[in-house]
Amino acid sequence: MPMHTIQIAGSDASFACDANDTVLRAALRQGIAFPYECNVGSCGNCKFEVLAGQAISCWPEAPGLSDKDKQKNRMLGCQTRAQGDLQIKLRTSDKYKPVHSPVRTRATLTASRALTHDLSEFRFECAEPVQFASGQYALVQMEGIAGPRAYSMSNVGGNTTTLDVQVRRVPNGVGSNALFDLPLGSAVEIDGAYGMAYLRQDAPRDILCVGGGSGLAPMVSIARGAFASSALASRQLHFVYGARMPEDVCGQDLLTPLPGFSERGHYQAVISGLDASEALPQGALRGFVHEAVDQLFGDTLAEMEIYFAGPPLMAQSLLKLLIDRKVPMDQVHFDQFY
Ligand SMILES: Cc1cc2nc3c(=O)[nH]c(=O)nc-3n(C[C@H](O)[C@H](O)[C@H](O)COP(=O)(O)OP(=O)(O)OC[C@H]3O[C@@H](n4cnc5c(N)ncnc54)[C@H](O)[C@@H]3O)c2cc1C
Ligand code: FES
Repeated sequence: MPMHTIQIAGSDASFACDANDTVLRAALRQGIAFPYECNVGSCGNCKFEVLAGQAISCWPEAPGLSDKDKQKNRMLGCQTRAQGDLQIKLRTSDKYKPVHSPVRTRATLTASRALTHDLSEFRFECAEPVQFASGQYALVQMEGIAGPRAYSMSNVGGNTTTLDVQVRRVPNGVGSNALFDLPLGSAVEIDGAYGMAYLRQDAPRDILCVGGGSGLAPMVSIARGAFASSALASRQLHFVYGARMPEDVCGQDLLTPLPGFSERGHYQAVISGLDASEALPQGALRGFVHEAVDQLFGDTLAEMEIYFAGPPLMAQSLLKLLIDRKVPMDQVHFDQFY
């Protein structure tokens, strides 16, 4: 595989990128703090400028890049492959320094089970161990599907060949439907781990995990990591799950068996899609998940370590609430599921 050298202008940093890798992922594999978020072309956080050399985009229509960006020679790190050596303009930032070096490995789908009518858990056995922190995600590339899909692990972080993901079957979604229809024993490529919304083992605060819709997996992983951690043994963990309808509610049965959950764990379901006249299932709250979080925790949010994952609309509403409640942003860790 031809190897190219990418040099970051104005610094002495450079990294090697093979012709089959993207500029972003090659940088992260070598410990370069390249800004990013989604890794799938949607958020635009991985933009950089090409100053010299040739590069191509694997997805020219990716929503993260505007026509104005293209005119200014900007590209998305997560969608760009170098065609030779490159000189690029990029502002690195320490917060993106990878906690573990991402690896690419072959993997086999070995099990799947339904969690709700449209959310299932899938188990992959990887050919090589993948090191990840609870809350991180991996990219799953299926044969015949353009571009990988990002899925968060639901198992506890570690150095492991077994990765569990929990995926919602999206109506008309190309990747999620392909995964639901994939026969057991099929091979995929997995690349990970990625993401900054991982469990902070040294945070001296109670923990709030908020998952909306398909944002269950990383919150379950964080809860599993927190209850397995001696450093967090005195912390309370509040888990709030936002569902649209009663049949979408899930997660509690995955949490209650965790050692310590009955003493320090709290689960709350919130349902947004019922009319005021329709009865709620026992224990559930009515409304949007950010409204319930405000109602339940209010001013005490500023004293919590907060993790959340879910659709961009939910993430933006929650973020606004946390800003209004003056929660220090270094206590807030989230992934938006584009
Ligand atoms: C950080 C992160 C973590 C996520 N974790 C989970 C999770 O744990 N569970 C879950 O159910 N969902 C998760 N998602 C959402 C998931 O990745 C998919 O977006 C979702 O499953 C819908 O995919 P689809 O293929 O069914 O829909 P589609 O509409 O077919 O595809 C949407 C996704 O595919 C990418 N894409 C589409 N076309 C191309 C192309 N030609 N080339 C490259 N990329 C393309 C898009 O950027 C978008 O991410 C996560 C997303 C992100 C960003
Ligand atoms: S990280 Fe590349 S567009 Fe989101």
